[in-house]
Amino acid sequence: MIIVIDGPAGSGKSSTARAVADRLNIEYLDSGALYRAVTLIYIEANRDKEVFFELLNQKEISFYYEDQTFYVAIDGQSVTNELRTAKVAEFVSEVAALPRVRSFVNNLMREAVIDGLYIAEGRDLGTAVFPDAELKFFMSADLEERAKRRYKERKSKNPEITLEEVKQNIAERDLKDSKRKADPLKKADDAIEFDTTDVTFEQQVDKICSKVSEVIEVQN
Ligand code: DC
Repeated sequence: MIIVIDGPAGSGKSSTARAVADRLNIEYLDSGALYRAVTLIYIEANRDKEVFFELLNQKEISFYYEDQTFYVAIDGQSVTNELRTAKVAEFVSEVAALPRVRSFVNNLMREAVIDGLYIAEGRDLGTAVFPDAELKFFMSADLEERAKRRYKERKSKNPEITLEEVKQNIAERDLKDSKRKADPLKKADDAIEFDTTDVTFEQQVDKICSKVSEVIEVQN
């Protein structure tokens, strides 16, 4: 069984999905982290698409969720700490727009969720990857609010970063993610829309947990 949360960067999908997974003891899947891991391979290939696709075919990407962290490894080597670097943020939308990359990541995810109960978050999960998901959410928030949240997260690791830079990166990524041809960021018709601009984190988690619990009960 799969529950999906889609939405733009900084809308609160990731922290909310992890908190829901922990509270309800279900598995968590971070599709953005998989696109970021693939972007590391793209960077390793010096952005040469032919070399990149060759490398992608040879590499094995594995992942699991534990202690609030979604761990990703390439050929058994952890890349978890490299996924959120500025370099990856710069190229990830370009990589995620490639249809071959999208089918590669979609296959990884579909295979992973065959057994068990998962909450997954991304951009196109309710529309393209899991159109038959049992429950779909689309989270959004004002750009200003989303930039503030991301800035707060990033500042401790990167004290040089400014709010304006974060805001610009988010705005550019939103534009690329929603305008691309291949599976753009879009609310699924049957997704529950959730604007989190003026909502506390606890309220977000409570709301989603109660909907998820209802669906689990009906399924059992
Ligand atoms: O959620 P995130 O910021 O880690 O995602 C990184 C990038 O990956 C995002 O800019 C777009 C892409 N992405 C995507 O195209 N489809 C998804 N399902 C998840 C992420």
